[in-house]
Amino acid sequence: MRVKKVFVTGAMGFIGFHWCKKLLENGYEVYAIDIKKNNQKLNHHKKFRYYRDSVFNYDLVRKLIKNSDLTCHFAGIASPKEYLINTTKVIDLTVNPSLVIVNTCAKYNKKLFFTSTSEIYGKSTEFPFTEEGNRYLGSTSTRRWCYSTAKALVEHAIFAKLSNKKKKFIIYRLFNIYGYGLKGRVVDIFFEKALKNKDLEIFGTGREKRCFLYIDDCIEIFFQILQKNKFNNQILNIGNNKEEKILSLAKKIIKISNSKSKIKIKSKYAKNTMKKQGFEDILRRIPSIVRLNKTLKYKPKTNLVEGLKLILKEMQKNI
Ligand SMILES: NC(=O)c1ccc[n+]([C@@H]2O[C@H](COP(=O)([O-])OP(=O)(O)OC[C@H]3O[C@@H](n4cnc5c(N)ncnc54)[C@H](O)[C@@H]3O)[C@@H](O)[C@H]2O)c1
Repeated sequence: MRVKKVFVTGAMGFIGFHWCKKLLENGYEVYAIDIKKNNQKLNHHKKFRYYRDSVFNYDLVRKLIKNSDLTCHFAGIASPKEYLINTTKVIDLTVNPSLVIVNTCAKYNKKLFFTSTSEIYGKSTEFPFTEEGNRYLGSTSTRRWCYSTAKALVEHAIFAKLSNKKKKFIIYRLFNIYGYGLKGRVVDIFFEKALKNKDLEIFGTGREKRCFLYIDDCIEIFFQILQKNKFNNQILNIGNNKEEKILSLAKKIIKISNSKSKIKIKSKYAKNTMKKQGFEDILRRIPSIVRLNKTLKYKPKTNLVEGLKLILKEMQKNI
């Protein structure tokens, strides 16, 4: 059966909002849930139904899964600072509603898209990270690993409950998706500082590397996968395999925003303090996109500089 009705959790979040917009523009009916206020930007679509509610409202969640053809479970906490200061909340939100969603999808034989993370691979140095590759994490006394571990538990539950079902699932492991509307991650934090001419702080050496994928490219990949009905019952890395040093990202943001900000590399003392607070950085994360490219042959359309310029344009419009 063709997917017509889609249930999206975390619909007012960065990825959720863009995904709902894409679905509605293409004629899908969308049931959306988030604890945030509806930002009204999708209300003109007749097929948009918004519930300002929590994924902990299990009765509502079960009802919406039952009434939909596909559930996209995107609600979560993806800001590294939160892993340290709100560890219990991160674990609770990542695991408990997700298990209910997985069980309900199994019960009603419904399709599930789940957004997992590149953090799953932890400190692995098996570059690039392949979907079936090993995970290598630090101690449970280091708080930052709670997010990776919680997402992994949900992935296990999905395989256990849904892999022998007729209706399918896809686990998307996202690698630094960025764009306007992102909150609490390195790109938006740097922009906020640069626009106020404040120091851009780097907690490390600046030689740490990440791979950034612009939001429109991520959404286009989700959409093509949905339409082509590919990658069922698999994990799929979604990312760009071009690496960028954090120092170079900071320089680009300063240049693009014509800022007077300076870059401040945080001292060894600061790093040690962060370690005591439960932070441990991952030096590199590169997705293998072999699986994605084999079936989809999608080339990202927006490079990093273009993507950063687009964010700045939106930020200036909204000041
Ligand atoms: N952006 C990335 O690069 C990235 C990377 C890895 C994984 N992810 C995953 O993708 C998903 C979406 O990430 P995002 O970047 O859009 O984050 P986001 O923080 O912008 O969006 C998450 C949304 O979930 C909502 N939410 C939180 N608690 C809720 C609750 N109890 N009930 C209903 N809604 C609730 C929030 O209000 C928010 O709108 C998350 O699951 C995240 O773990 C994102």
